[in-house]
Amino acid sequence: MPEKIPQKIKSLRKKTEKIEKEAWLLIEDAKTLEELDKVRVGFLGRNGTLTQLLKTIPQLALKYRPEAGRLANALKRKLEENLREKIDALHKEKEEKGLEIDITMPGCAQELGSTHPISQTMAEISRIFKNLGFKVVDGPEVETEYHNFTALNIPEGHPSRETFHTFYLDDGTLLRSQTSPVQIRVMQKEKPPLRIIAPGKVYRPDATDASHSFMFHQVEGLAVDKKINLADLKGALTVFVREMFGKKTKMRFRPHFFPFTEPSAEVDISCIICGGSGCRVCSFKGWLEILGAGIVDPNVFKAVKYDPESWSGYAFGMGVERIAMLKYGITDIRMFFENDVRFLRQF
Ligand code: DAH
Repeated sequence: MPEKIPQKIKSLRKKTEKIEKEAWLLIEDAKTLEELDKVRVGFLGRNGTLTQLLKTIPQLALKYRPEAGRLANALKRKLEENLREKIDALHKEKEEKGLEIDITMPGCAQELGSTHPISQTMAEISRIFKNLGFKVVDGPEVETEYHNFTALNIPEGHPSRETFHTFYLDDGTLLRSQTSPVQIRVMQKEKPPLRIIAPGKVYRPDATDASHSFMFHQVEGLAVDKKINLADLKGALTVFVREMFGKKTKMRFRPHFFPFTEPSAEVDISCIICGGSGCRVCSFKGWLEILGAGIVDPNVFKAVKYDPESWSGYAFGMGVERIAMLKYGITDIRMFFENDVRFLRQF
């Protein structure tokens, strides 16, 4: 005869079955970890349904307690297991969805940068000369002595070849001290006629101060054609000066010497601050030097195997920082390289 199940245990079993069913449904329904935790507290918290039930066991007659304890603890283990499984499932779901994204949160705007004033100035110089039929070309910043000096008619022993004017590398190459070697590279590759400008970085071992930097930018220009003369050079530079600094700007050529041009000149513009009457920017001269230029020396043509009897040309070279400083009224070259956004944002 199986032992009769006492009423007390029967009703306890009913209660645990009811709790189990309820809990199972609520756990199934929980959509978030927060909801699930509420379910847990509802059953297993200090005042939870199951906790309350466990508390009644000590009040049962001694003989019922073991069975009652077994039932209630089995339920407790079951609920804890179900909760654990659901927690894992919710975590996994969250991971699969990626981080939970609250689409109502305000976004973090990415500030747009702006083109560096030196790049802007080089682009403007390039634009002007492109309109005059010049092609924009590039050359290496690590150069040979031949391209940077020899082919440009700069003799051995010339001061610009000294180590305090040029950065030499261990293998006999150097960091170009001017963009003029691009003239040589282009002429070695291409047949005349040609018109090119070459913007880029140059390097010189100068101590840094308000007007010197060991690295700065130049734009080189070269035109080679039949019967090119000084008037062609003046014409092109006049267009450049007017476009860059305004129609009223005057220009003058001052005789000078460069090894790669003959004759050579330094080119000045009327002071864009005072208009020529004299001020601190132009040291009360009324004029500002902006570039070097001249008629290509026959020796340069010989170096690239162009016949100087059939071809002639002009060349010029300007410092981009100097042009930008004059155009924007900047008094310290270091501003360009310090990456201070309060400065850069103004362009
Ligand atoms: N390369 C010269 C310098 O760095 C600038 C220059 C002067 C370039 C005269 C030229 C030129 O092409 O004809 O000072």
